[in-house]
Amino acid sequence: MKKVLILGAAGQIARLAEQQFLADDDFELTLYLRNAQRVSDLKSDRVTIIDGDVTDQAKLTKAMVGQDVVYANLAGQNIKVQAETVVNAMHATNLKRIIWISTLGIYNEVPGKFGEWNNATLGSYLTRYFDAAKVLEDSDLDYTIIRPAWLTNHDEIDYETTQKGEPFKGTEVSRKSIAALVVKLAKTPTDSVRTSLGVNKPNTDGDKPAWY
Ligand SMILES: NC(=O)c1ccc[n+]([C@@H]2O[C@H](COP(=O)([O-])OP(=O)(O)OC[C@H]3O[C@@H](n4cnc5c(N)ncnc54)[C@H](OP(=O)(O)O)[C@@H]3O)[C@@H](O)[C@H]2O)c1
Repeated sequence: MKKVLILGAAGQIARLAEQQFLADDDFELTLYLRNAQRVSDLKSDRVTIIDGDVTDQAKLTKAMVGQDVVYANLAGQNIKVQAETVVNAMHATNLKRIIWISTLGIYNEVPGKFGEWNNATLGSYLTRYFDAAKVLEDSDLDYTIIRPAWLTNHDEIDYETTQKGEPFKGTEVSRKSIAALVVKLAKTPTDSVRTSLGVNKPNTDGDKPAWY
C-alpha cells in the first residue's frame, strides 16, 4: 500500500485525482483540507480526512507522519508561505517525495503571442507561483513541479509534457489529465524526480486558449 497525503484535497484537480487513486487498490489516502466536510463522501477504510490549513505547521507535520508521497494541490496569495510550511514539515518527518501543482509561465517559458497574453493576464500571480516553486527547487526534496496549461473540465486524458528550459507547448489541458499525471508519478517514485514539467494537450497551439 502506498500512502499519499493530498493537500488542498477539495481542489478541482485533487477531486479528480482522488477518484483515480481510489480506483487503484494500491493507494491509501490522507485528505488534508479546510472545511473537511466537503470530502466526507470519500470516507472509507482507505481514506483518512484531516481538517486543517496548510500553514498550520504543527498539524501539517503530524499529518505527514508515515506517508510515502505528498501531493500539493494548493493556491492563494500566500502560496510561497504554504510551500515553506510543506517543506519544513517534510524535513521534520524525513519525507522526500512531493508532487506540486504550479502553473505555466513561471519561467517566462511560454513562447510567442500566447506567452505575451499569458504574462499580461496572469501578472503577479506568476511571480508568486515562481517564488513557491523555487522553495521546492532550492530544497533537497524529490519534487516534481507540474506546470499545467490553461485548465479545462473536459472529460479526457490527453497530454504531453515539456521540460524546464524548453518552450511551453499548447494552450490548454484538462484537469483530468493533470490528475492522471499525478497518479502516474505517485506510482513510480523515481519518475521525473527533481524536474519541472510543462503539461499541455497536444495540438492546442494558439494565441490564446480557445475559449478566450
Ligand atoms: N485555472 C487555470 O487555468 C490554471 C492553469 C494552471 C495552473 N493552475 C493552478 O493549478 C492549481 C490547481 O488547480 P485547481 O483547479 O485544482 O485549483 P483549486 O480548485 O482552486 O484548488 C486549490 C485548493 O487549494 C486550497 N488551499 C488554498 N490555500 C490553502 C491553505 N492555506 N490550506 C489548505 N488548503 C488551501 C483551496 O482550498 P479552499 O477551497 O479551502 O480555499 C483549494 O481547494 C491552482 O494553484 C491553480 O491556480 C490553474
